[in-house]
Amino acid sequence: MERTLISELGQKVGEVALIKGWVSVRRDQGKMVFFDFRDMSGAVQGVVLPGSEAMDVAKEIRSEFVVAVEGKVNKRPDKNINTEVQNGDIELEILKIEILNASETPPFPLDQDTSNVDEEVRLKYRYLDLRTERMQKNIRLRSEFIQRCREFLFKNKFTEIETPLLTESTPEGSRDFVVPSRLNPGKFYALPQSPQQYKQMLMVGGFERYFQIAKCVRDEDLRADRGFEFTQIDVEMSFVEREDVLTTMEAMITETVEAMGFSIKQKPFPRISYAEAMEKYGADKFDLRTEEDKVNGILAYAWVVDFPFFEKTDEGGWTFTHNPFSMPKPEHVEWLMKGERVDEILTTQYDLVCNGYESGGGSIRAHKPEILKATYKIMGFDDAAIDEKVGHLLEAFKFGTPPHGGIAFGIERNIMNLAGESQLKEVQAFPMTRGGKTAVMSAPKALTDKQLAELGIEVKKRS
Ligand code: AMO
Repeated sequence: MERTLISELGQKVGEVALIKGWVSVRRDQGKMVFFDFRDMSGAVQGVVLPGSEAMDVAKEIRSEFVVAVEGKVNKRPDKNINTEVQNGDIELEILKIEILNASETPPFPLDQDTSNVDEEVRLKYRYLDLRTERMQKNIRLRSEFIQRCREFLFKNKFTEIETPLLTESTPEGSRDFVVPSRLNPGKFYALPQSPQQYKQMLMVGGFERYFQIAKCVRDEDLRADRGFEFTQIDVEMSFVEREDVLTTMEAMITETVEAMGFSIKQKPFPRISYAEAMEKYGADKFDLRTEEDKVNGILAYAWVVDFPFFEKTDEGGWTFTHNPFSMPKPEHVEWLMKGERVDEILTTQYDLVCNGYESGGGSIRAHKPEILKATYKIMGFDDAAIDEKVGHLLEAFKFGTPPHGGIAFGIERNIMNLAGESQLKEVQAFPMTRGGKTAVMSAPKALTDKQLAELGIEVKKRS
């Protein structure tokens, strides 16, 4: 007999069906045994009636056993119908049960929210945690969000392109994770903090509209909404101005979340300057929702624009506020080129804020070598140092680089808002612990002496 998904049992009332899945709960009432079964599509109640051939096996089964169950799909009597739950109007009268695999008792209950379970235990057994209703919902929500954004981007002529993971350290503001090179002892790759420079090279390469679901890795202080690893929907477009990027991306977010059943507080998204945001909210990310909006799961988006390009360093010099690759606002290009009124130069940077989180950010880029150079000059770099930092980009920009700009959305931050979660780890399948340990597997860990020798690395023991 072919397997029927639990969500489709309702269409088979009066027939015998075969389901496969897990036992969520077993309630042994002596003469009868009740089960709650679940598979990827949902849950259903089953019952082994007195005298049934399945009774002996039913008595052996415990929570989380994997089973194949043949049963007759019965309509429940009116008084037993439960309209609150899926399949609350039917019941499987179990004729036969096969145990496909047994299960030990899980280290924490899987039929309830696991937010209060000790983090180390939860992540050690993440594959069990993932079976809970909330985690299933969050991870599926993430998949649907990405699928819908992808569909929007394909429909709008974007090409999905992968960029390298083993790459060069880039000046993007955070610390790098590095990987030693066996072929070049003593030398290191860096894992990408974002595909920023590659996506700009793809504009030089003539793709015009690029996107990638890109893994980014940053050695930052971990916080509730910040991980070492996170994923971006990374986008870059040629022949565009700020308005084009904002309109296209606003359409992507709006179409995506509305198709998923969410409501947006204000459309088009309000725009607010950095100066105004600081004055009104004291921060460049803010929450525009009322208490009632919060209860109703409303999404309050806003664009923040007109950021200062530079800020003072502790040593009295200048550094960039977001990234060095941005174009100043058109009316401030001259100041940048001359290195004048540096504190007044505004960048084309834009951030998307939603429900208090920075959920995306990008800019129009400096696509001419002299503009990028001028930015580095303001930051006190001489020609040799500029070449060392971004020489490859300056070289590429000599060969007919189109004007371009883009953005990247943090997928986790976006899903946190959709799922109503306040921790990044609730929307990643295998997140890390607060102490930077991986879920399920035990990284980071020491290398063997043989591996170290191959890499030409000596580790100093900390005393
Ligand atoms: P930025 O550094 O602002 O821009 O990152 C873009 C978005 O990624 C998310 N994000 C994070 N999410 C979780 N953990 C982190 N450690 C983390 N860091 C960032 C945020 C943020 O808005 N290359 C540029 C984009 C561009 O200019 O096109 C960049 O990476 O939601």
